[in-house]
Amino acid sequence: MQKRVILKNMSVNQPSSQANLSLAEVAKRILVCTDCALSRGRTRAVPGEGSEKATLLFIGEGPGYHEDQLGRPFVGPAGKFLDSLLASAGINRQEVFITNVVKCRPPENRDPLPAEIEACRKHLDSQLEIIQPKIVVTLGRHSMARFFPGESISKVHGTWRRQNGTICFAMYHPAAALHQQSLKATIQADMLKLPKLLQEISKPLPQEESKPQHQQLKLI
Ligand code: URA
Repeated sequence: MQKRVILKNMSVNQPSSQANLSLAEVAKRILVCTDCALSRGRTRAVPGEGSEKATLLFIGEGPGYHEDQLGRPFVGPAGKFLDSLLASAGINRQEVFITNVVKCRPPENRDPLPAEIEACRKHLDSQLEIIQPKIVVTLGRHSMARFFPGESISKVHGTWRRQNGTICFAMYHPAAALHQQSLKATIQADMLKLPKLLQEISKPLPQEESKPQHQQLKLI
């Protein structure tokens, strides 16, 4: 069954009335979005892909050449490396959700501009609200900036923090390791922290574990 969510202030080709959206409907909006100049240079918008029930949601920077051609995230060299990182941690790509802060390719793969990130923010917000992942993994500086504002990636990579009930885990962008070999071991080690973190957060809280049944019933 598709998860649906009530979203406020959806402005993509619609009045800002509340909209009851599914992930597929968000993708449809992204494919026709013209809310920033990146839409004019795209071959295809890249909404993101993966499971609507994902526990892990990965956020990259923006589509590159291959992603723009195929309309799918992380399918070029950085994507191949991401696939190998996921496999090394025993994480199945089909079971996570992968997207970007901007859904259209910046020209010449330049960094997305603040105004472009802002224009695309509503799409990412919708995806986060619908999926409600347990852990958001930021890949690179641009997605990190949203969850770790004012921080430097060299300090926070491999660490997590809780924000509005979601755990945000920061990692270097896989492409960074392709350009700078010295980062490869770091990014590999950071990815290997994820299974343990997943295990930790799946444990029941100590008071829930020890609460006798009759006490729980009294609370109802
Ligand atoms: N780099 C990104 O940030 N995202 C992609 O989808 C591909 C490469």
